[in-house]
Amino acid sequence: MRLLQKVLLSLPPEAAHSVAMTGLKLRGKVPGLVRPLLGKATFLGGKALLNPLGLAAGLDKDAEAVEGLARCGFGFLEVGTVTPRAQPGNPKPRLFRLPQHGALINRMGFNNHGLDAMARRLAGVRERGRLHGTLIGVNLGKNKDTPLEHAVDDYVSCMRGLVHLADYFTLNLSSPNTPGLRKLQHGEGLRNLLHQVKEAQLALASDQAPVPLLLKVAPDLADDEITQIAEQVSSIGLEGLIATNTTLARDAVLAHQHGHEAGGLSGRPLTNRSREVVAAFRRLLPDSCFIVGVGGISSADDARAMLSSGASALQIYTSFIYKGPKIVQEIIMGINALK
Ligand SMILES: Cc1cc2nc3c(=O)[nH]c(=O)nc-3n(C[C@H](O)[C@H](O)[C@H](O)COP(=O)(O)O)c2cc1C
Repeated sequence: MRLLQKVLLSLPPEAAHSVAMTGLKLRGKVPGLVRPLLGKATFLGGKALLNPLGLAAGLDKDAEAVEGLARCGFGFLEVGTVTPRAQPGNPKPRLFRLPQHGALINRMGFNNHGLDAMARRLAGVRERGRLHGTLIGVNLGKNKDTPLEHAVDDYVSCMRGLVHLADYFTLNLSSPNTPGLRKLQHGEGLRNLLHQVKEAQLALASDQAPVPLLLKVAPDLADDEITQIAEQVSSIGLEGLIATNTTLARDAVLAHQHGHEAGGLSGRPLTNRSREVVAAFRRLLPDSCFIVGVGGISSADDARAMLSSGASALQIYTSFIYKGPKIVQEIIMGINALK
C-alpha cells in the first residue's frame, strides 16, 4: 500500500486522482456486504453513525466510487458538490500539492456531472443494497452561471431530485472557487436562503422524516460573522453545521512554490483554525445541533482534539490523499481508545 501511495503521489495531482478513483471503483466491485469499522457510535438527525469519521466532500464529486470508499471503513461519505446542471469547473491546472505542509490548494470550481447523474448513481447504490450502515450525505452547490439571487433555486432543485437517496444534505455556501458564493453566508441573504431551504425540506418530507440539513462554513469568518451564522442556524432549526471548508489564508505556505496559487488551502495549515471555528460554534449552538469538524485532521491526536473542541463527528480529505486508506483505521482506533 505504501508503494502505491508513493506511485500516486509521483503523478500529477489530477492524474493521480483519476487512477485512485479507478482503483476505488474496482475495490467497490468486490462482492459482499460493506460495513463501516465499528467505533464510537452517534446519531445524525435520528440516523445511526456507526463510527464518527466521514469522507469530506469533493473527493467523490459524482458518487462514482461509493462502495469502494465505504470499504475503507468510513462511518459516512459525503459526495458532491453537485449542481443542478453538469459543469466543467475551472481550467487546469487547478489542484496543487504542498507535501512539505501536508496541504493542497485547489480551485476546482465545482466540476461535476450534474444532478441527474448523481441521482442515477445513488439510485444504483441503493438498489445494489451492499452498504450496511455507511451513511451517504450529498453536498449541494449552485451552478457558476446561476445569479446569486437565484441560488436558492439550485439548492432546492437538488434537494427535490435527491430527497429519497441522501441521508443528509449539506448546503455548501463556503467554497472559495465559485465567484460570490461566500457572500451567501451573511446577513439577509443567508436568512432568506436558510428559510427557503428549510421550508423545502419540510415540504419534501411528507410522510417520511425530513432529511437533515447541514450548513458548511468557511474558516475565514470573523467572530461577529460566526455569531450571526449561529443565530440563524439555531433560529431556523438546521440540524447541523460542517466547519470548515478550505481557507483563503496563505501565511503558513507563502514560501512554497505553489503558496500563491489562487483557490482554497486544505490540510495541516487549517488544523488549528478549523478547531477554533468548531469550538466557537459549539459555544453558540444548542447541544442538539450536530457539528462535523473538518480541516487538517491527519492523525488520531488531531481527531481527538477536534472532538474535544465540540465536534460531534469528523471528516477528512487531504490526509486521505497523503496517507491513503490506512488513516481511516488509525483515526477510528485512536478515537475508540478514548475513555
Ligand atoms: C481537491 C479538493 C476539492 C474539494 N471540493 C469540495 C467540494 O466540492 N465541496 C466542498 O464542500 N468541499 C470541498 N473541498 C473541501 C473539503 O471537503 C474539506 O472541507 C477541506 O479540504 C478541509 O479538510 P481537509 O483539511 O481534511 O482536506 C475540497 C477539498 C479539496 C482538497
